[in-house]
Amino acid sequence: MSERIGHHGLKSKVMTAQDAAQFVSHGDNVGISGFTGAAYPKAMPTAIAEKAKAQHQEGKEFAINLFTGASTAPDCDGVLAEANALAYRMPYQSDPIMRNSINAGGMNYQDIHLSHSALQVEQGFFGQLDVAIVEVTRITEEGHLIPSSGVGNNVEYLDNAQRIIIEVNEWQSLDLEGMADIYRIPRLPNRTAIPINNSGDRIGTPYIDIDVSKVVAVVETNAPDRNSPFKPIDEVSKQIAGHFLDFLEGEVRAGRLAYDRYIMQSGVGNVPNAVMAGLLDSKFENIQAYTEVVQDGMIDLIDAEKMTVASATSFALSPEYAERMNNEAARYRKYLVTRPLQISNHPEVIRRVGLIASNGMIEADIYGNINSTHVAGSRIMNGIGGSGDFTRNAYISTFISPSEAKNGAISAIVPFASHVDHTEHDAMVVITEHGFADLRGLSPRARVPKMISVAAPEYRPLLEEYFARAQKDSAAHTPHDLATALSFHSNFLQNGSMK
Ligand code: COA
Repeated sequence: MSERIGHHGLKSKVMTAQDAAQFVSHGDNVGISGFTGAAYPKAMPTAIAEKAKAQHQEGKEFAINLFTGASTAPDCDGVLAEANALAYRMPYQSDPIMRNSINAGGMNYQDIHLSHSALQVEQGFFGQLDVAIVEVTRITEEGHLIPSSGVGNNVEYLDNAQRIIIEVNEWQSLDLEGMADIYRIPRLPNRTAIPINNSGDRIGTPYIDIDVSKVVAVVETNAPDRNSPFKPIDEVSKQIAGHFLDFLEGEVRAGRLAYDRYIMQSGVGNVPNAVMAGLLDSKFENIQAYTEVVQDGMIDLIDAEKMTVASATSFALSPEYAERMNNEAARYRKYLVTRPLQISNHPEVIRRVGLIASNGMIEADIYGNINSTHVAGSRIMNGIGGSGDFTRNAYISTFISPSEAKNGAISAIVPFASHVDHTEHDAMVVITEHGFADLRGLSPRARVPKMISVAAPEYRPLLEEYFARAQKDSAAHTPHDLATALSFHSNFLQNGSMK
């Protein structure tokens, strides 16, 4: 048995994942660890999927409601979706099998602001939480849990579950101990201010204390996190990164930002990672991150002594960087704080630290409404994730995206967003490979030329044509021709192209 289980009583709870699956029943609400391919349970999802398949073969129903931190990995979300083991899933996913199942109507998915997700569980919006399944690095002699490569919603799931299953993963570095900062926000009506003034402030404990009497099983694993590698940085991403830096430089010239201690939030994805690579050669120094996930680009900035601290809830590292983190966690621990998701994404702290948010998008309309989640209005891609938490409360919010997708068949700038995640009231700057549209201080009509200037050149005349048509018969504040407002999308659905 692993020396990583220090608590005497919990040693007697060690069993296989297959045996532990007896504690998960049809209809259960199950809260698990896991955030962007890190810190998710490695053995229990497959065991639950196998149990579901066996039950289905016997003609019995078996499906659980699954709550996570955010996306997980193929051996978690993927296997469960493939086994039809899920009735409901929240708050974020990005797995191709799960996405197809959701879009085919095979399971229900609720896309929730990440900062709200554990709060809603705590407040009982989902009824009773039956089981928490949480991966840890080790269990101390007192029965305290040392988080692995992410914290996510673990604290709230452990606090609220009737039964707890712990996975102790030997692959995770013991040197991660000390990185987590566990803090509980008192429940209503006793809430108090969160005492974080700077990204790196530590306000809690490095472990999660739990009611050990609720632990029904401890499962030992030795398996890596499964984040996918980033795509190599292409020319378009480099251009976007260049325009993002131009924008930051402009803020410095205007006296709204300093080269010293710019505080970033960076969304997941290939383009945000390219932006961080751009910062390596910039004049910005002592960069801090108050963000959701630690990405490869942040590790490079730390190594280059450009970044002094990053606060997040989890890692989202490529396999190569995850390996590096595992070998050198003792060194990186000085620069990184992992917090419960409620804290990493808390509007109060985000507003206080004054960060510049940058997130990806599916599309933006000519007035600056942003769709982060749906293709052609109804097909979910991933989810809103933390983009709403950060965008709404940022000092400056930016969206970064190529101007086109699918080899030019899709324009990222459209007349009318087919789904809106971030309204024109929250989105301030939209950046593509063609430049940046700074929408601050502009009325809806005045935004249109700016937005069209960042669209792909072949779509600009179509957007101008739409705007001219829209101005003919509608009110002048936000002109729209409702009959053709979604013509880009209907063209795409009918002909495979928005042109
Ligand atoms: N229509 C259809 N597909 C589109 C699209 C559009 N308008 N825009 C992008 N896509 C597709 C791309 O073609 C690509 O598909 P592929 O994986 O089959 O190649 C995929 O979306 C990813 O796009 P990419 O350009 O590589 O950007 P990305 O990796 O930065 O992801 C989002 C973009 C919007 C999908 C991603 O940022 C996201 O899920 N955002 C919402 C959550 C969020 O912001 N989280 C961070 C908060 S902390």
